Amino acid sequence: MSQTQNKQIVLNERPQRGPITDKTFRTETNEIKQPGEGEVLVKVEYVSIDPTMRGWLNDVRSYLPPVQIGAVMRATSIGRVIKSNDSNFKEGDLVFDSFGWQEYWTGPGKAIQKRVTPEGGRDIDHMGLYGLTGMTAYVGLFEIGKLEDGDHVVISGAAGAVGQIATQIAVAHPKCKVTAIAGSQEKLDYLKKLGAHNVLNYKDADFKKQFKAIDNIDVYFDNVGGEILDLALGQLNPYARIIACGAISAYNAEKPTPIYNYFNLVSMKSTMRGFIVLDHADKFKQGSEYLAGLVKENKLKADYHVTYGLDTCVNTLRDMFEGKNFGKTVVSLKDQKEQEEEGFGKSRL
Ligand SMILES: NC(=O)c1ccc[n+]([C@@H]2O[C@H](COP(=O)([O-])OP(=O)(O)OC[C@H]3O[C@@H](n4cnc5c(N)ncnc54)[C@H](OP(=O)(O)O)[C@@H]3O)[C@@H](O)[C@H]2O)c1
Repeated sequence: MSQTQNKQIVLNERPQRGPITDKTFRTETNEIKQPGEGEVLVKVEYVSIDPTMRGWLNDVRSYLPPVQIGAVMRATSIGRVIKSNDSNFKEGDLVFDSFGWQEYWTGPGKAIQKRVTPEGGRDIDHMGLYGLTGMTAYVGLFEIGKLEDGDHVVISGAAGAVGQIATQIAVAHPKCKVTAIAGSQEKLDYLKKLGAHNVLNYKDADFKKQFKAIDNIDVYFDNVGGEILDLALGQLNPYARIIACGAISAYNAEKPTPIYNYFNLVSMKSTMRGFIVLDHADKFKQGSEYLAGLVKENKLKADYHVTYGLDTCVNTLRDMFEGKNFGKTVVSLKDQKEQEEEGFGKSRL
């Protein structure tokens, strides 16, 4: 191995309320740490970009501790073992963990997971379709949302990573009707291609009026919180289920959006339940098999928004808050030309 330096993006300072700034992160180059006994050295190939990263930058109590100042930015990742002092791993093994925004990771083999890509599959699917993204959509709809035949399912953030998979699962479910919400005409066209029965652009001036014209809701898959959540609360069927998956509209907000329709949870005997996908690892095997089944039946496709090189991580995260991604957002640290030849970075739908 000729490479000796490891480029890393570390947290430089915590952003105040609002979006990340040019000072939030800084790039460092350090010597690659050689693996000790029981350790492996991993060359990172893909790093994830997720809305939740904004929350990890705040010094508050949450489902994971905040990223510390000076620490490598946390990110789930896929890589290949290039040196191993752990008998369970050999050079070339594909591995998954939170390797972070850096080119190389060194640490104990027992802390990371080996992954095998099935023949004809793509390594990138460990980040999206069969990764936490796909599992969030699956667990959200079935474990939290208790999806039933014939439900009217409304999904916000529907053209994003979790949203696109949730949309397709709901479309494939017997007799369900799916209303998908996103922020541009291009995304609405994409959602129609995914099979959504009804599509709404939340940026339209008359969005509220359009929303009020849809049928009452059995399942609301909430990726965005805020005003859209409030509208959904105002339009529940009895025994509706709200899947509190995320609230991207709040992550950069100066102050929370008021919720006026809360009492409908009582009058419509409905439930709203939050969840963190990491707590549902016991369902991942079942979830992967379910999604693979839909893929086989040609009812599910995963789209990726890929940028190239570690230097793109920060702007790609910013862009996500402006809705520039379709599907799962991933930064590839692999050779761009080689990847483009494989079809990455272009819509695969
Ligand atoms: N609970 C869990 O375990 C879990 C796991 C994974 C993700 N999540 C949550 O699920 C949600 C989706 O995550 P993802 O990874 O799939 O991200 P994503 O949907 O791929 O990307 C975020 C999308 O949110 C939309 N957006 C941005 N600002 C918005 C705003 N102010 N109002 C409405 N929409 C806005 C943008 O699309 P538009 O163009 O449509 O605006 C953007 O493309 C996030 O809230 C995330 O935190 C939760």
